[in-house]
Amino acid sequence: MASLLQILHFLSITCLLFCGVATSNQIPKPYVVYMGSSSSNNDEHIQAAESAHLQLLSSIIPSEESGRISLIHHYNHAFKGFCAMLTETEASILSGQSNIVSVFSDSFLELHTTRSWDFLAAESGVRASQRYNKHVPSDVIIGMVDTGIWPESPSFNDKGIGKIPARWKGVCMEGPEFKKSNCNRKLIGARYYNIPLASNENKASPTKATGSPRDFEGHGTHTASTAAGASVVNASYYGLARGTARGGSPSVRIAGYKACSEEGCMSSTILKAIDDAIKDGVDIISISIGMNSLFQSDYLTDPIAIGAFHAEQMGVLVVCSAGNEGPDPYTIVNTAPWIFTVAASNIDRDFKSTVLLGNGKTYQGSAISLSNLTYAKTYPLVFGKDVAGSYVPMYEARNCRPGSLDPKKTAGKIVVCVDDDPTISRRIKKLVVEDAKAIGMILISEIQRGVSFDSGTFPFTEVGNVEGLQILKYINSTKNPRATILPTIEVPRSKPAPVVAYFSARGPSPLTENILKPDIMAPGVAILAATIPEREPGNVPIGMKPSEFGIKSGTSMACPHVTGAASLVMSVHPGWTPSMIKSALMTTASLYNNMRKPLTNNSNKSANPHEMGVGELSPLKALNPGLVFETTTQDYLQFLCHFGYSQKIIRSMSNTNFNCPKNSTEELISNINYPSISIGILSRHHQTAKTIQRTVSNVGLSNTTYIAKVHAPMGLVVQVFPRKLVFFKGVTRLSYKISFFGKEAPGGYNTGSITWRDGRHSVQTMFTVNVK
Ligand SMILES: *[C@@H]1O[C@H](CO)[C@@H](O)[C@H](O)[C@H]1NC(C)=O
Ligand SMILES: *[C@@H]1O[C@H](CO)[C@@H](O)[C@H](O)[C@H]1NC(C)=O
Ligand SMILES: *[C@@H]1O[C@H](CO)[C@@H](O)[C@H](O)[C@H]1NC(C)=O
Ligand SMILES: *[C@@H]1O[C@H](CO)[C@@H](O)[C@H](O)[C@H]1NC(C)=O
Ligand SMILES: *[C@@H]1O[C@H](CO)[C@@H](O)[C@H](O)[C@H]1NC(C)=O
Ligand SMILES: *[C@@H]1O[C@H](CO)[C@@H](O)[C@H](O)[C@H]1NC(C)=O
Ligand SMILES: *[C@@H]1O[C@H](CO)[C@@H](O)[C@H](O)[C@H]1NC(C)=O
Repeated sequence: MASLLQILHFLSITCLLFCGVATSNQIPKPYVVYMGSSSSNNDEHIQAAESAHLQLLSSIIPSEESGRISLIHHYNHAFKGFCAMLTETEASILSGQSNIVSVFSDSFLELHTTRSWDFLAAESGVRASQRYNKHVPSDVIIGMVDTGIWPESPSFNDKGIGKIPARWKGVCMEGPEFKKSNCNRKLIGARYYNIPLASNENKASPTKATGSPRDFEGHGTHTASTAAGASVVNASYYGLARGTARGGSPSVRIAGYKACSEEGCMSSTILKAIDDAIKDGVDIISISIGMNSLFQSDYLTDPIAIGAFHAEQMGVLVVCSAGNEGPDPYTIVNTAPWIFTVAASNIDRDFKSTVLLGNGKTYQGSAISLSNLTYAKTYPLVFGKDVAGSYVPMYEARNCRPGSLDPKKTAGKIVVCVDDDPTISRRIKKLVVEDAKAIGMILISEIQRGVSFDSGTFPFTEVGNVEGLQILKYINSTKNPRATILPTIEVPRSKPAPVVAYFSARGPSPLTENILKPDIMAPGVAILAATIPEREPGNVPIGMKPSEFGIKSGTSMACPHVTGAASLVMSVHPGWTPSMIKSALMTTASLYNNMRKPLTNNSNKSANPHEMGVGELSPLKALNPGLVFETTTQDYLQFLCHFGYSQKIIRSMSNTNFNCPKNSTEELISNINYPSISIGILSRHHQTAKTIQRTVSNVGLSNTTYIAKVHAPMGLVVQVFPRKLVFFKGVTRLSYKISFFGKEAPGGYNTGSITWRDGRHSVQTMFTVNVK
């Protein structure tokens, strides 16, 4: 079902972008030409590179079209390349040239809020971060590649924050509705890019997106405040989710890179934003954006993978969302091993909106609705199929599809709709019912109710199949069915939590199953954070000011929680590399929920690592991990060899004389020094065990002894040797081997863990092994 949706979505995007031109490969369109690592970036060199790129273009573009000999974007700081208008033939000529790593058409990437589902919901950077609210002074700078920023939000107040780090080289770009004075010691930089929009044809409504770093969408403001917002006491969404809103580490700095509009983002712009962020001096880049999972073919046509590779090489950690295409397997994006990939969980806060029927029965629904209805009055209740317009198939009216309801029959009533047609989102159904002059809506949807929908002031609630059947029976049972929908109340401390969010994209990675993805899980459902003030009447209760905070859901919201936690670890351990920080957060993640039971998914089944990675983020423990797995540039280069890229390409990407191992195979990817373990195929017929190696670095006290403990499923034989690691002064790095023998193991993915303990620390490595 989800994959059908995906395909539809894919087709519509492809069409949006390419339908007009697909018929001819001679019509120019934007292409990204990626040319590997940048060897130097002084001004002189940059100018030389630019003219070389122009020369390259003039060598392939016919002189009568010389207008096209220009660079839409030029990348020259962390990596080399450009974006230009090319025909398909020209692009393919370029891709054959020896100094060029890859050429790909400038594709459209999606924001990872649950827009496609139109889930909108609530949470808390709040509750999650109250556990680590110590005010650690910090010069860490986070670059948010997103939809821009709303600088007036109280989350970007700079009270109590020291002066801007001297190494900062970024800028605060001005534009309509954005002045230099909008930047401060918290929001230290803001850039925007002219976004070549997908829909150039329908330019009737010129988009507000370009020309200013200001956020007109809300996504960028929300993610930035979750990652690094200042403390704001008594923050709430019209009274809901009230608490102190703050990012992972309040004194961390933010720089906004507006690479996306409301419609999404272009590859070429994301690359430019990453290149600028690295040059400006950010320490962490947070990207809640990704390709559609069906577009992924390899790492070197994925702008986020390319940009993140060079960021990591230059000591910048890149944290990305896993995508919202769950719960089917192989839906995850942003899976390169140098990316920190984040899945989303529900937190221990729920939003309920009760239905009261005329017979006195009540049912708890899920919603974020600012409805003003009360117990005192009920309204006529009807089922969509019973209020259909003429000649409308019953199926359509049951589902409240556009055009299916007759306003004469729905006006002033509460309408019940079902959800057996997943192509129409909740937001659309709500608009259909609202347009039909109804007074409220009850949606019966088993799967979507886990993520509360924000219906603004329109009375709305969502119930499961069991409650739904009771409501439909009640409608049948009486001549004059009535009901009311009460305003939303917050249900704190709901159990179990966390739970893997239904929409969170699942591994294994479609590109290689020898690296475990996602890496980690963090809160991503119903997150309260700063947003742009929504001024439309339906969104603001009468008599109130537009809220400065909003409740949103998506892996987009989970990603900045990890960004914030990473900034905290970096603030406490300024010398640590990106991979050390990632390892610290991964080996200390939690596998248990607030009932002290193993984490579960949406169906109350044990969550597996392809859903949650190594478990739920646990930021405080990460400050003192004991041991870390350092994944070096050499590891990543070997990964590229094993994945199948040529030595020439890898040398060009790394600007080194790196030699690929002669025996490179995809299987050897399991052996790179990653903080989790994945083996894509373990043959049952092998008479010997498969052995891989890991190396740990001691970042705790120098004299200490760790002992390994293995948790493996029945039948899978997992051995660690040595089982004991003794660290003392002068010995800070030790290696060990792990062997997997699957003769008696059940087929399919087996999961377990290896935990090193020294009495003070517990260093956990999750493994997944696919026995065949
Ligand atoms: C929080 O805000 C509400 C109104 O939005 C107000 O009634 C309440 O007194 C405030 N609480 C605190 C602790 O400031
Ligand atoms: C609720 O608000 C709507 C406007 O949003 C208004 O028309 C209606 O009369 C109000 N209902 C009650 C019961 O106050
Ligand atoms: C309600 O009545 C209709 C027609 O009599 C019937 O088809 C339907 O199954 C009934 N629904 C429920 C939930 O009882
Ligand atoms: C939860 O996990 C079970 C067992 O792995 C799986 O069958 C089910 O589809 C999962 N549910 C969701 C919503 O992902
Ligand atoms: C979830 O499963 C556990 C045992 O696997 C059971 O005890 C619990 O009642 C279930 N919860 C729900 C809400 O179904
Ligand atoms: C691959 O070759 C390297 C030397 O280049 C060697 O150290 C390693 O053991 C070999 N690995 C396998 C699996 O053959
Ligand atoms: C570590 O052990 C060595 C010898 O066992 C001892 O000399 C040294 O003082 C110890 N260092 C610490 C920090 O405990």
